[in-house]
Amino acid sequence: MSELQNAATAPRLVRQEANHGFYERHIFFCLNERKPGEACCTQHGAQAAFDRCKAQVKAAGLAGSGKVRVNRAGCLDRCAAGPVAVVYPEGVWYTYLDDADIDEIVESHLKNGVVVERLLIPAELAR
Ligand code: FES
Repeated sequence: MSELQNAATAPRLVRQEANHGFYERHIFFCLNERKPGEACCTQHGAQAAFDRCKAQVKAAGLAGSGKVRVNRAGCLDRCAAGPVAVVYPEGVWYTYLDDADIDEIVESHLKNGVVVERLLIPAELAR
Protein backbone atom coordinates (compact mmCIF):
# COMPACT_ATOMS: atom_id res chain seq x y z
CA MET A 1 0.00 0.00 0.00
CA SER A 2 1.37 3.44 -0.93
CA GLU A 3 1.79 6.30 1.50
CA LEU A 4 -1.02 8.11 -0.27
CA GLN A 5 -3.36 5.16 0.26
CA ASN A 6 -2.36 4.98 3.93
CA ALA A 7 -3.13 8.65 4.39
CA ALA A 8 -6.51 8.20 2.74
CA THR A 9 -7.52 5.34 5.01
CA ALA A 10 -5.97 6.48 8.30
CA PRO A 11 -8.64 9.04 9.30
CA ARG A 12 -11.40 6.46 8.83
CA LEU A 13 -9.62 3.97 11.08
CA VAL A 14 -9.06 6.58 13.77
CA ARG A 15 -12.72 7.57 13.62
CA GLN A 16 -13.88 3.96 13.96
CA GLU A 17 -11.65 3.38 16.97
CA ALA A 18 -12.80 6.58 18.64
CA ASN A 19 -16.45 5.60 18.25
CA HIS A 20 -16.09 1.96 19.19
CA GLY A 21 -17.49 1.18 22.58
CA PHE A 22 -18.42 4.72 23.59
CA TYR A 23 -21.39 3.18 25.37
CA GLU A 24 -21.51 -0.42 26.49
CA ARG A 25 -25.25 -0.54 25.87
CA HIS A 26 -28.07 1.57 24.50
CA ILE A 27 -31.70 1.08 25.33
CA PHE A 28 -34.15 2.73 22.94
CA PHE A 29 -37.75 3.32 23.97
CA CYS A 30 -40.38 3.85 21.32
CA LEU A 31 -42.07 7.12 22.28
CA ASN A 32 -44.07 7.40 19.11
CA GLU A 33 -47.40 9.15 19.49
CA ARG A 34 -50.13 8.76 16.91
CA LYS A 35 -53.43 10.53 16.40
CA PRO A 36 -56.25 9.70 18.83
CA GLY A 37 -57.73 6.29 18.01
CA GLU A 38 -54.50 4.93 16.49
CA ALA A 39 -52.43 2.54 18.60
CA CYS A 40 -48.95 3.59 19.68
CA CYS A 41 -46.50 2.94 22.49
CA THR A 42 -47.10 6.32 24.11
CA GLN A 43 -50.70 5.25 24.86
CA HIS A 44 -49.26 2.36 26.89
CA GLY A 45 -47.06 4.22 29.34
CA ALA A 46 -43.91 4.52 27.25
CA GLN A 47 -42.99 8.02 28.49
CA ALA A 48 -43.27 7.00 32.14
CA ALA A 49 -41.21 3.86 31.46
CA PHE A 50 -38.55 5.91 29.68
CA ASP A 51 -38.39 8.36 32.59
CA ARG A 52 -38.21 5.49 35.08
CA CYS A 53 -35.43 3.79 33.16
CA LYS A 54 -33.37 6.96 32.93
CA ALA A 55 -33.75 7.57 36.65
CA GLN A 56 -32.90 3.98 37.58
CA VAL A 57 -29.86 3.88 35.29
CA LYS A 58 -28.60 7.10 36.84
CA ALA A 59 -29.32 5.92 40.40
CA ALA A 60 -27.44 2.69 39.74
CA GLY A 61 -24.38 4.60 38.52
CA LEU A 62 -24.76 3.13 35.04
CA ALA A 63 -25.14 6.39 33.10
CA GLY A 64 -22.31 7.87 31.08
CA SER A 65 -19.62 7.04 28.58
CA GLY A 66 -18.49 3.45 28.67
CA LYS A 67 -21.73 2.52 30.39
CA VAL A 68 -25.42 2.82 29.44
CA ARG A 69 -27.35 5.37 27.39
CA VAL A 70 -31.15 5.57 27.56
CA ASN A 71 -32.56 6.99 24.32
CA ARG A 72 -35.94 8.00 22.99
CA ALA A 73 -36.93 6.67 19.59
CA GLY A 74 -39.74 7.03 17.11
CA CYS A 75 -41.76 4.06 15.95
CA LEU A 76 -39.60 0.94 16.02
CA ASP A 77 -42.08 -0.88 13.77
CA ARG A 78 -43.08 -3.48 16.35
CA CYS A 79 -46.28 -1.72 17.34
CA ALA A 80 -48.30 -4.91 17.86
CA ALA A 81 -46.02 -5.79 20.77
CA GLY A 82 -46.08 -2.30 22.28
CA PRO A 83 -44.94 -0.72 24.35
CA VAL A 84 -41.47 -1.74 23.22
CA ALA A 85 -37.83 -1.07 23.98
CA VAL A 86 -34.71 -2.55 22.42
CA VAL A 87 -31.25 -3.02 23.90
CA TYR A 88 -28.11 -2.87 21.76
CA PRO A 89 -25.58 -4.21 20.97
CA GLU A 90 -27.45 -7.44 21.73
CA GLY A 91 -30.58 -6.44 19.78
CA VAL A 92 -32.88 -7.74 22.50
CA TRP A 93 -36.51 -6.59 22.25
CA TYR A 94 -38.64 -6.07 25.35
CA THR A 95 -42.16 -5.16 26.24
CA TYR A 96 -43.14 -4.02 29.73
CA LEU A 97 -46.13 -3.23 31.91
CA ASP A 98 -44.93 -1.40 34.99
CA ASP A 99 -42.03 0.00 37.02
CA ALA A 100 -41.05 -3.46 38.24
CA ASP A 101 -40.48 -4.58 34.65
CA ILE A 102 -38.29 -1.56 33.92
CA ASP A 103 -36.36 -2.05 37.16
CA GLU A 104 -35.71 -5.67 36.23
CA ILE A 105 -34.44 -4.72 32.76
CA VAL A 106 -32.08 -2.18 34.35
CA GLU A 107 -30.80 -4.51 37.06
CA SER A 108 -30.60 -7.71 35.06
CA HIS A 109 -29.76 -6.68 31.50
CA LEU A 110 -28.30 -3.18 31.62
CA LYS A 111 -26.29 -3.76 34.79
CA ASN A 112 -25.45 -7.47 34.65
CA GLY A 113 -25.90 -8.41 30.99
CA VAL A 114 -28.53 -11.05 31.71
CA VAL A 115 -31.55 -11.02 29.38
CA VAL A 116 -34.98 -10.82 31.08
CA GLU A 117 -36.59 -13.76 29.29
CA ARG A 118 -40.12 -13.17 30.60
CA LEU A 119 -40.29 -9.73 28.93
CA LEU A 120 -39.02 -10.73 25.50
CA ILE A 121 -41.20 -9.97 22.49
CA PRO A 122 -42.09 -13.04 20.43
CA ALA A 123 -40.29 -12.91 17.08
CA GLU A 124 -43.53 -13.14 15.10
CA LEU A 125 -44.96 -9.92 16.57
CA ALA A 126 -44.18 -7.03 14.29
CA ARG A 127 -46.32 -4.12 13.22
S1 FES B 1 -45.61 2.89 17.89
FE1 FES B 1 -44.10 1.91 19.13
S2 FES B 1 -43.23 0.41 17.84
FE2 FES B 1 -44.61 1.47 16.57
